[in-house]
Amino acid sequence: MGASTDYAALVADDRVHGSLYVDEDVYADEMERIFTRGWAFVGHDSEVPAPGDWVTRRLGREPVILVRDRTGKVNVLANRCAHRGTTLCWEPGGKSSSFQCTYHAWTFGLDGSLKGVPYPGGFNRDKAGLGLDRPGQVDSYRGFVFANVSGDAPPLAEHLGPGGAELLDRLCDLSPTGRITLGGGWIGHRVASNWKMWPESDNDGYHLGWVHASMVKAAPDTYYEDTVLGGEGGNSSLAVDHGGGHFELDFRPSYKAELAWLGAPRQKVAAYCEALAEARGAERAEQLLWEGPPHAMIFPNLFLGEMNLAIVEPVAPGATVHRHTAVQLEGVDDAFNRRLLRQSEAAMGPAGFIVPDDAVTAERMQAGFAGARADWAGLGDRGRAWIDLSRGLEREQVGEDGRRRGHVTDETTNRAFWQHYRAVMGGGA
Ligand code: FES
Ligand SMILES: [Fe+2]
Repeated sequence: MGASTDYAALVADDRVHGSLYVDEDVYADEMERIFTRGWAFVGHDSEVPAPGDWVTRRLGREPVILVRDRTGKVNVLANRCAHRGTTLCWEPGGKSSSFQCTYHAWTFGLDGSLKGVPYPGGFNRDKAGLGLDRPGQVDSYRGFVFANVSGDAPPLAEHLGPGGAELLDRLCDLSPTGRITLGGGWIGHRVASNWKMWPESDNDGYHLGWVHASMVKAAPDTYYEDTVLGGEGGNSSLAVDHGGGHFELDFRPSYKAELAWLGAPRQKVAAYCEALAEARGAERAEQLLWEGPPHAMIFPNLFLGEMNLAIVEPVAPGATVHRHTAVQLEGVDDAFNRRLLRQSEAAMGPAGFIVPDDAVTAERMQAGFAGARADWAGLGDRGRAWIDLSRGLEREQVGEDGRRRGHVTDETTNRAFWQHYRAVMGGGA
């Protein structure tokens, strides 16, 4: 496969081939075409609130540091010494006045510049040319920092498009200050599955009644019963393709009460409701309290899971880290943010209801494709390891806003992912 992989043949409108989850050359193409030449989410600027604060992340194969420098600027730097390549930061995060390599003690500033080299008598090069590598483009939207390694991508605004920006707006607008923060700490699940199963399953409205049946049994009467488990007929939630590889399970049409998404009545979160009304006016606050946060994917690696946020971190064709944290809101009382944190732990944590069950499902799917080979794909309908994604293809509709919408249980979201994937991977629109 590799340069010769025919993505147009392997990604059809209604099905994709299972080799795309297991093939080493496909994975290499993805690291290049999606995670090197395109924009990916790195972190949120609230994770590094003060100069010297840093967190480590991966941008495709590239280990990076997200760090705030002395001028207040947020930088994305290669987590790799410019001398002989030693990883600089091993911890998930910290606070430093500079980065010193553990091998020969070269020291770098928070902006990535080379500051000091021990035994300078034998070192004749200009330090200015030996700073840490950095992505060609770094930009942010409402505190969400994205980077593009190659530097050749269109501007971030084009990558997000109106759909991606709207999804981020809808989350941030729930904060009285318009800012979310991510200070609650991250939990990572390392899963023996391909990374693409996570954008797919995090926004799959079809599996909830089975994979997450235990959640419904343990916590009955949650809004999930109305929004996704109400059967095919009695359910008005939508699967939405926002374009550009961004897509959503839109639960808003199914909410029967304000704050349904939070699972708490107004009297329990009165201070939050008042702060929002104060900041936005009563009418807009009322609308926000009804609509709640989006359940959506920003291509390729950022999951806005209502009041949770997750990063999909590819490790290998059959290994992924799914990293999540609770969304916290700026300008609200501590009790409200604690509630969000506790809910996130219950839903997403290792002993929670959602991610562990999805992880097992993803591993079973990966195991099912272990033998998938693209050269069998030419067998047409007799071909092996095709994934059927046709559900709801005839009943989805394009609205006046250009967005494609289907029933919440339809595979409109999966198709939105794969159609953008095919375009990015060179298989045509
Ligand atoms: S490898 Fe970092 S100082 Fe030598
Ligand atoms: Fe799930």
